[in-house]
Amino acid sequence: MDTPSNINGKVRRLYPGEAIPYDLLLLADETEAAINRYIYDSDVYVYEAQNEIIAIYVLQVTGSDEIEIKNIAVEKRHQNLSIGKLLLRDAEIKAKEKGFGSIIIGTGDASIKQLYIYQKAGFEVFDIKKNFYIDNYPEPIFENGIQLKHMLVLKKKI
Ligand code: ACO
Ligand code: ACO
Repeated sequence: MDTPSNINGKVRRLYPGEAIPYDLLLLADETEAAINRYIYDSDVYVYEAQNEIIAIYVLQVTGSDEIEIKNIAVEKRHQNLSIGKLLLRDAEIKAKEKGFGSIIIGTGDASIKQLYIYQKAGFEVFDIKKNFYIDNYPEPIFENGIQLKHMLVLKKKI
């Protein structure tokens, strides 16, 4: 699979027993408690360059024909270098190899960049989880100066 220029990293599965990179996961999710609700029941893939893990995504089976990207994150100093798009494509390939027909991803209603990337990659909004970020997190979350309230769920047929 092609790689963003100048980085030359590779996607690999997190090794059994390897430390879970919470620092990266916490870029995409607010609390360790929220992450722990899915991480032990998911496949974790990391993007590694020069022996350093700089990005991550997490896949969880959520239906008989459906798998969900529960978390996707790129270390801050490596953002906007196309690694996120590469990971979305990689997740889609993995989901297809595993025999799933659809891939799902959820994000906040104020998450403008994420909504841009996911829709550009072919995902379409198909559900809204009303008040998800109010009901499931102890503190208000803000993105782009807007409080997150609802989760938009996007799906791509693969
Ligand atoms: N508004 C709209 N588009 C933007 C913005 C913005 N504010 N900022 C950048 N973009 C565009 C860029 O122009 C580029 O688009 P283009 O390729 O058409 O030019 C694109 O967004 C960036 O693409 P990548 O470089 O592939 O993105 P990146 O490597 O930064 O990965 C990610 C995206 C994963 C969202 C990363 O920024 C990140 O880790 N953010 C913090 C964690 C996070 O929010 N994760 C997702 C939460 S949802 C979930 O985990 C299920
Ligand atoms: N992504 C995110 N934010 C952006 C972008 C972008 N691509 N481009 C500009 N912005 C931000 C600016 O930073 C600014 O935010 P800030 O005040 O927090 O810094 C804000 O958007 C711009 O605000 P205004 O200057 O008040 O916007 P404007 O006078 O351009 O009016 C409008 C907005 C009506 C959407 C205008 O751009 C327009 O006529 N667009 C074409 C017609 C249209 O789309 N109309 C709405 C269709 S829906 C309907 O009609 C019901």
